[in-house]
Amino acid sequence: MGHFHSANVFITDIFNVIVLLVGGLFLYSGKLNFGDYSAFIVAIPVFISPIMTLIHFTEQFQNGVTGFERFIEIMDAEPEVDEENAKDLEKVDGEIEFKNVNCSYNDTTEVLKGVSFKIKKGETFALVGSSGGGKTTICHLLPRFYELSSGEILLDGQNIKNATLSSLRQNIGIVQQDVFLFNSSIKDNILYGNPTATDEEVILSAKSAGIHDYIISLENGYDTIVGERGVKLSGGQKQRIGIARVFLKNPPILILDEATSALDNVTEKIVQASLEKLCKGRTTIVVAHRLSTVKNADEIAVVENGFIVEQGNHDELMSKQGVYYRLSEGLNIDGAE
Ligand SMILES: Nc1ncnc2c1ncn2[C@@H]1O[C@H](COP(=O)(O)OP(=O)(O)O)[C@@H](O)[C@H]1O
Ligand SMILES: [Mg+2]
Repeated sequence: MGHFHSANVFITDIFNVIVLLVGGLFLYSGKLNFGDYSAFIVAIPVFISPIMTLIHFTEQFQNGVTGFERFIEIMDAEPEVDEENAKDLEKVDGEIEFKNVNCSYNDTTEVLKGVSFKIKKGETFALVGSSGGGKTTICHLLPRFYELSSGEILLDGQNIKNATLSSLRQNIGIVQQDVFLFNSSIKDNILYGNPTATDEEVILSAKSAGIHDYIISLENGYDTIVGERGVKLSGGQKQRIGIARVFLKNPPILILDEATSALDNVTEKIVQASLEKLCKGRTTIVVAHRLSTVKNADEIAVVENGFIVEQGNHDELMSKQGVYYRLSEGLNIDGAE
């Protein structure tokens, strides 16, 4: 628009200059009388203003069309609805089973192909594999952010399709690489995990997440405003507020999707300690890029191109000398250990 408008103004102004100059010359040489000359000068704005109107109209029309398209997009979005006869989940133990799960985002290519695994209550299940393999997709299927194209996911032996979305998500805590913080106080941001919690409970979860001491060192303590998306906090601090949130929510199931991959080594160690505390007694699915995080998992699955290509615990997979073995060498070289 900048280029367009400056060119536009330049052309209309040049137009004025040309009419004045050429008209002046004609007047001088007697080819034009003064009355005609004046009429021309007066006519310029009459000529230019409809052009301007047309340009403004086109611009406004374009804005209107894009605005309308956005509006239609929102109106067309299908609301998430519970299946008919969906029931609230009662007490959840946290046993998870994926049975031959296929999933695609746009009906053309399958992102997950026949994924099956089982996680016992309280165990840690690690997903490793190269980027784009489908690890995040697996994590997103459990809280039903996307629907399966075939197969089923069982929670305590029941298909999660038959549970209400709100009760299902109530039982799952997620820590991702990027923690979303609202432009509000630290306390509000932690309370987001469980809005009915008391102040004592908020402080307790901040302590568990290892962020309490930092918070009280701030001038306004728990009432400190974190700024848009938490700009006033470092990555590690944001991550620990995200962890405090999940402590407060206290779900039986936990999903950690590359929770520490955006942090430097020192911060990662600190956050890792809080995460380990968080995992205790919960069924955990962890996606990690560091071997040290994965090593202690009860079961490890290597995901490549939508398939689980290898599965077992660390020692089993190492002695197999397969994909995991090669991957772990790569992980070591990254200076992770
Ligand atoms: N929202 C989405 N829409 C369409 N395709 C997606 C979406 N999210 C991920 N994908 C595709 O699905 C595949 C698996 O992605 P993802 O599960 O994020 O992999 P990972 O977490 O293992 O790196 C990739 O090929 C990716 O391009
Ligand atoms: Mg991912």
